[in-house]
Amino acid sequence: MPSNKKLLILPGDGIGPEVVREVRRVIDWMDRRRAVTFEIDEGLVGGSAIDVEGTPCSDATVAKAKSADAVLFGSVGGPKWDSLPFEQRPELGILRLRKDLGLFANLRPALVMDPLVDASSLKPDIVRGVDIMVVRESTGGVYFGEPRGVETLPDGKRRGFDTDVYHEDEIARVARVAFDLARKRRGKVTSVEKANVMQSGRLWRAVVGEIHKAEYADVQLENMYADNCAMQLCSRPKQFDVILGNNLFGDVLSDLAAALTGSLGMLPSATLGAVDPTTGKRHALYEPIHGSAPDIAGKGIANPLAQILSFAMLLRWSFGMEEDAALVEQAVGKVLAGGLRTADIMQPGMARVGTTVMGEAVVRELDKLSA
Ligand code: IPM
Ligand code: MG
Repeated sequence: MPSNKKLLILPGDGIGPEVVREVRRVIDWMDRRRAVTFEIDEGLVGGSAIDVEGTPCSDATVAKAKSADAVLFGSVGGPKWDSLPFEQRPELGILRLRKDLGLFANLRPALVMDPLVDASSLKPDIVRGVDIMVVRESTGGVYFGEPRGVETLPDGKRRGFDTDVYHEDEIARVARVAFDLARKRRGKVTSVEKANVMQSGRLWRAVVGEIHKAEYADVQLENMYADNCAMQLCSRPKQFDVILGNNLFGDVLSDLAAALTGSLGMLPSATLGAVDPTTGKRHALYEPIHGSAPDIAGKGIANPLAQILSFAMLLRWSFGMEEDAALVEQAVGKVLAGGLRTADIMQPGMARVGTTVMGEAVVRELDKLSA
């Protein structure tokens, strides 16, 4: 019987394969305990794909991703590929997937878990209870806009340029994602841009305002310049519920929001496409926010929790398995409350463990929670 849970796993580079292995442990547990069958395929992406297939994301991988119900992505990049020409960089693997699958809404939660309050570099009082969702536009803007390039001028000097460009429909559809999320959360969207200096920022503010007025007047909308938002995130992060930004500002501010929580190693993300009106399905890719961390790759010390939490988001958003998603999240919470820590979130008095022990501990908690 064909399953409706076709999952493509793309472990990628660096710590990607190590942390993805711990998700496999969780998937095996679910197969055993809950009679859910995933149809799993694997593929290469990033540097490892460059080595074997000569490109960071082959047509075959894109095709597999398109036919899957969801993609679980590790991370890409590393020093081995740093000197490749720009067009061949591992990072283009994830950019191509976002673009070709139309994954325009990148959801990046920044949640301060109580046991980790002290791991933040900010004072506990400032970060305790922070629960922010950054919605980043992820198929447009300056990361894709044309023209772009580096040219050599007649005088021999070089000139580099990119184009930050948004069509109003691109702004509107991601704004709707943010407003819909806010409705299910605390009812507030902070939309960030630089409408004071950028034309695409002016349009951004105008379109978000129009969508708000016409369709989401029940949600609170606040417009904020992106630089001010960076400052406010560090000084008063609890004022934020959903932060909506373009590709560039969303990229930067989601890292900042992530840092508030004490560890990038804890944070998952989801990148969603449009819902197909006939099938009701949408393309979606789930990845941790942390990168490939080449400095610790292969040492068995990486934190697998962001990857595991990305899988929980996948269960919730792509497979509608809310209960199972919550169970995985609870198991992670229990493991932390029990005092286990990987190096990146290590605190005095806690027990330092590696990747595998952390993954096994999550499965043990799953067992206990569902006993
Ligand atoms: C991210 C990363 C990527 C991006 C890189 C790896 C291309 O920074 O997902 O935030 O800039 O989008
Ligand atoms: Mg980034």
